[in-house]
Amino acid sequence: MKGIIMAGGNGTRLLPITGGASKQLLPIYDKPMVYYPLSILMLADIRDILIISTPEDMAHYKRLLGDGSQWGLSIDYAIQSKPQGIAQGFLVGKKFLGSSSVCLVLGDNVFYGPHLESHLIKAKINATKHQVATVFGVEVNNPHQYGVLGFNQFHQAVSIEEKPNTPPSNIAVAGLYFYPNSVIQMAAKIPFSKRGELEITTVNQQYLSDNALDVVQLSKSFTWLDTGSPESLLEASQFIHTIEKRKRSKVACLEEIAFKKGWITKSDVLMAAKKMNRTPYGQYLINNYL
Ligand code: TTP
Repeated sequence: MKGIIMAGGNGTRLLPITGGASKQLLPIYDKPMVYYPLSILMLADIRDILIISTPEDMAHYKRLLGDGSQWGLSIDYAIQSKPQGIAQGFLVGKKFLGSSSVCLVLGDNVFYGPHLESHLIKAKINATKHQVATVFGVEVNNPHQYGVLGFNQFHQAVSIEEKPNTPPSNIAVAGLYFYPNSVIQMAAKIPFSKRGELEITTVNQQYLSDNALDVVQLSKSFTWLDTGSPESLLEASQFIHTIEKRKRSKVACLEEIAFKKGWITKSDVLMAAKKMNRTPYGQYLINNYL
């Protein structure tokens, strides 16, 4: 399985901040936002990763992430010339994906909670072995801003609607999706929506109607943060700061994940740490790996 991070978009809900900077490079407490979705792919054991961003911002991603070898990854880059929807990622990434299944994650989403890795591995098996897609449902207060799931009396998902005026439930679809390779053909067939985008919700509706969509509802103790507005950006930083302080461990510490996976050595971790020894991120690595 290969991974795609969608790090383009307009970032209009964060203007004027995003007037001169890409949203997914903004900090969530002590590290760039894109580290969080990247850590999710790494936790899912996905090492071939494509970053999709805008023509203006691409150089900054390359500068930050390089070829990924410092974390035992292989990172490629592709430009989405206009933000024409999340599902366009499969078309932009067609060559990169080849015949692989794919996990696509939004560059501005943060996931933190119990059983994360087992959810990821199960979703990966669904896609690679059973040709079944997986989406994750999370309870939210503002469902009308997301793709929303509708359920029947047996609590089975029966519909998905994009930003509905009257949401059928308060369970939103989070920005983390697993698909078999057929998603490339699927994305090529769907029409542009009224707002001019290839909607990921349309792709998910299609898998649902083909009986090939697993909907995993994340528990109430699971935290999903979409960091696209000033308030949610601040809250995400506060949340990560609190968790890291309380647990004395780091969320989305890429060197630590890569080391635990056996993709890099202890001396690789320390080499990275020494360059960052004036920050809490670097100090954490030095304290734990020296
Ligand atoms: P959104 O937050 O829905 O859109 P946006 O980032 O353009 O922000 P705003 O609504 O404030 O204008 O996008 C979710 C994620 O997907 C985000 O990380 C950007 C990314 N994205 C792309 O990479 N390409 C796209 O065409 C779209 C629509 C989003």
